[in-house]
Amino acid sequence: MRDNNKAETRNSLILHLRPRQVSARAIKFTHTFGLGGMALVLVLLLLFTGILMMFAYEPTPERAWQSIASFQEDVLFGRLIRGVHYWSANLLIPVVVLHLLRVYLTGGFHSRRRSNWLIGLSVLGFILLSGFTGYLLPWDQTAYWAITICTEMLGLVPGIGQGLQSAVVGGSQIGSATIINFYALHVAVTPMALIALLSWHFWKIRMAGGVVLPSASVDNPRAAFRTVPFKPDLLLRETVVSLVLIALVLVTAIIFSAPLGEPANPGISPNPAKAPWYFLGFQELLIHFDAMFALIVIPLLVVAALIVIPYLSYAADISGDWFLTSKGRRMAVVAAVTAMVLVPLWVLLDEHLIGPGGWLPGMPSLISNGLVPFVFLLAGIIGFYVLIKKSFSATNNEAVQSLFVLVFVAFSLLTATGIWFRGPGMSLVWPWQM
Ligand code: HEM
Repeated sequence: MRDNNKAETRNSLILHLRPRQVSARAIKFTHTFGLGGMALVLVLLLLFTGILMMFAYEPTPERAWQSIASFQEDVLFGRLIRGVHYWSANLLIPVVVLHLLRVYLTGGFHSRRRSNWLIGLSVLGFILLSGFTGYLLPWDQTAYWAITICTEMLGLVPGIGQGLQSAVVGGSQIGSATIINFYALHVAVTPMALIALLSWHFWKIRMAGGVVLPSASVDNPRAAFRTVPFKPDLLLRETVVSLVLIALVLVTAIIFSAPLGEPANPGISPNPAKAPWYFLGFQELLIHFDAMFALIVIPLLVVAALIVIPYLSYAADISGDWFLTSKGRRMAVVAAVTAMVLVPLWVLLDEHLIGPGGWLPGMPSLISNGLVPFVFLLAGIIGFYVLIKKSFSATNNEAVQSLFVLVFVAFSLLTATGIWFRGPGMSLVWPWQM
């Protein structure tokens, strides 16, 4: 019997990649929601459809738009292939962010999983770079002006901004150097980096003994160690989730074609000109803070916080249960509600009371729109941490978790404001007035 099993392992690629037995608790859908697997399916769809489009795409300002238009019109299934690429890319970002959230909220970043958290963060960075570089390639008005806005945002950073902007653009204006740089990054650098990093990510999951598991139930400790065979139990579930996702992307791509607007016209800027939707949180920050804080200080602090999360000292290495404890769950709700009240208030206050002059009109923008609101923000965040920890008599795991939820919900709300509530001149409007 054992010999049969060994022979089966030797002959099966899948069983080399995955364990023969998996924990029954690890494959419960609500433990991971299959988000990591979904992200992988979307990455594979992107690679497959991207390679097909490379046969037709021409990365020059003169030919880019036309090559995409004729790929859609003249190539068999061209429109569908581009649609699948477009929708997979737009779905990948929320799926990966939700996966990050799931890993964080189930404590999947402690001890043996620390380095995999960092690998995951690099994966996220490359996914954003891939989205950003791909955005320009259709060379229509939306693409051209979204990338113009993003690169102009870089140019606003005091001191290094201009240098940063011309390095990304490859000159003083978006043109053939930009499109060829973006193309190389999009079709060679980011896919290769993602393939390497994801292989490492999966190997690390295997090395950590699979996904993090909920702590053993005291009433029924035997259930905690129950295992089920990978084939068919997990394989079947993964196949079903993958097929449902592929069907969803296909149907979406059939019903809603990927947009292709008028060819890029550097002379006519749309109003409002917005960054790609996943960067609108930053564009929104730019409305409320000086560029130095909106584009450098705050993003760097958030990235630094994400990196140090696994290295903070925690009261106990509790892993595997959603929100750690029931108290942790209640604190997370309080954090989310706090962000839902304070962020819209801040946005409205800034629009109607404070205005573009900032908090101390007459002072330089770096102080009036930068340092002063930033100190308020920091004081609010520290105050929230101290207050919630004390009022719930919480451990630092629970308090840090509620801070994470607060910042996550706040940034999501800023992004939503940028997507749905900013109209001409980036002033506040209702979505139906846009
Ligand atoms: C395309 C991007 C990604 C893919 C395909 C991917 C895939 C996966 C898969 C399949 C798993 C195991 C099961 C699951 O959670 O569904 C996993 C676990 C994990 N992922 Fe990712 N992931 C990606 C991005 C990220 C990001 C952005 C992070 C965050 C920093 C991250 C951190 C982790 C960690 C730490 C684990 C182990 C957690 C545990 O043991 O519970 N991953 N990933």
